[in-house]
Amino acid sequence: MARPLMDTPLTIVILAAGLGTRMKSRKAKVLHQAGGKTLVEHVVDTALELTSPESVIVVVGHQADTVRSLLARRGVRFALQTEQKGTGHALKCCESELEHRTGRLVVLYGDTPLLRMETVRKLIELQGSAGAAAAAITTVLDEPHGYGRIVRNAAGEMVAVVEEKAATLDQKKIREINAGIYCFDAGLLWRHIGSIQTNNPAGEYYLTDMVEILNGAGGKVLPMVVEDSSELLGINTRLELATVDRIVRERKARQLMLDGVTIEKPETVTIDMGVKIGPDTVIEPFTRILGSTVIGSDCRVGSCSIIEDSTLEDDVQVGAFTVIGTSHLEPGVRVGPYSRLRLDNHLEAGSQVGNFVELKKTRLGKGTKALHLAYLGDSTIGAKVNIGAGTITCNYDGKKKHQTKIGDGAFVGSNSTLVAPMEIGDGSYVAAGSVITSKVPDDALALGRSRQVVKEEWAKKRR
Ligand code: UD1
Ligand code: CA
Repeated sequence: MARPLMDTPLTIVILAAGLGTRMKSRKAKVLHQAGGKTLVEHVVDTALELTSPESVIVVVGHQADTVRSLLARRGVRFALQTEQKGTGHALKCCESELEHRTGRLVVLYGDTPLLRMETVRKLIELQGSAGAAAAAITTVLDEPHGYGRIVRNAAGEMVAVVEEKAATLDQKKIREINAGIYCFDAGLLWRHIGSIQTNNPAGEYYLTDMVEILNGAGGKVLPMVVEDSSELLGINTRLELATVDRIVRERKARQLMLDGVTIEKPETVTIDMGVKIGPDTVIEPFTRILGSTVIGSDCRVGSCSIIEDSTLEDDVQVGAFTVIGTSHLEPGVRVGPYSRLRLDNHLEAGSQVGNFVELKKTRLGKGTKALHLAYLGDSTIGAKVNIGAGTITCNYDGKKKHQTKIGDGAFVGSNSTLVAPMEIGDGSYVAAGSVITSKVPDDALALGRSRQVVKEEWAKKRR
């Protein structure tokens, strides 16, 4: 993970305190997700590829507690910006904690999640090798609207960044923009950060003013022009969020394919970044594979299926239109089409679940089958059990949930109603159409239905 870049200590500050007004959301911008991962997590994970957790400081403000707890297990540090007075002010909130730190200080914005570690590394190397006061990433956009523009002097040197709101008509025509990614000489930054003023249309402390300030103090700020601007996309609105989400998922699908997963019509699938899939597994079109799902090798996930936070071991086949949440499927399991494994199910090796079967908090033993139209909730079902079509566990009495236990080798006939709490013994039979309300011992036959009556010639007489 964290490799030391050079001998100089490296600190990374991530600005993530803003609300993000243009998102029109009650949720802080950095908490929105792309590729199933919050924006701030994307940026923090990039930072952690460059330096150790104790050298990463996240500036939090809006919904600070949520951001803090989200990032807690990564071990990064935090600084609080109680009032959002601009990016310059946000960085200043780290001053007391960081001003004694020498070396380099990299600033990343929490709303720029596509940034790659290699790009930041190049920026750090540029600043370091030139001994510049700072280096900043820029890029040229066809539609630069909304970004800070790079102002260069006659010699082509970067002398200022002017924000959209403060830009003159001529400056608005500049297509080279500021990506919001900087590497500062830490000593110079802290010496001069106090010079940032609020004399701009927004009345904010703009971190971008540091370019002019450092220039004025005789330092140079080197621009690093990045050709591929796609990784510098900053999210301000939900339109950009959708673009970034698409790019993140494209990267993910691409990586999976390079690692040996077949994805049919990859442009139609939705796979979260945290998902793992083994080689020779086939993912059919329009599937959604989400959260921390792990899928083994030689599996198939049918069209339009949704799998979330689940584990599918090797050789699991999921038919089309199946929904699986927080469940574990052992090797050789077959589910779907049209199955719903709602939550916390465990399907042992070779078990099968078919169309219109719903499982909740249920364990199926090895080789057990429930192939059509059933509801099995809060149940522990042994090995080689047959659950007939239309079988229902009545696990809820209106107040409480109750357990059902079915022993190995039992045969539950079609359309059985099993009123929980219920125990059905090993090797026993339940006759089709039964309502079962009391325990069935091993090897017994339970009938819970009225006897059939046949009235001969009845129809003829009626006519
Ligand atoms: C900023 C840059 C702009 C650049 C663009 C790139 C400034 C003044 N402008 O503009 O030049 O082209 O990013 O995407 O820096 N934040 C705080 N506290 C604050 C304000 C912001 O933590 O008081 C955080 C936000 O949470 C966000 C990041 O800083 O993650 C950027 O803020 P945002 O308001 O989106 O800046 P832009 O207007 O996009
Ligand atoms: Ca922004």
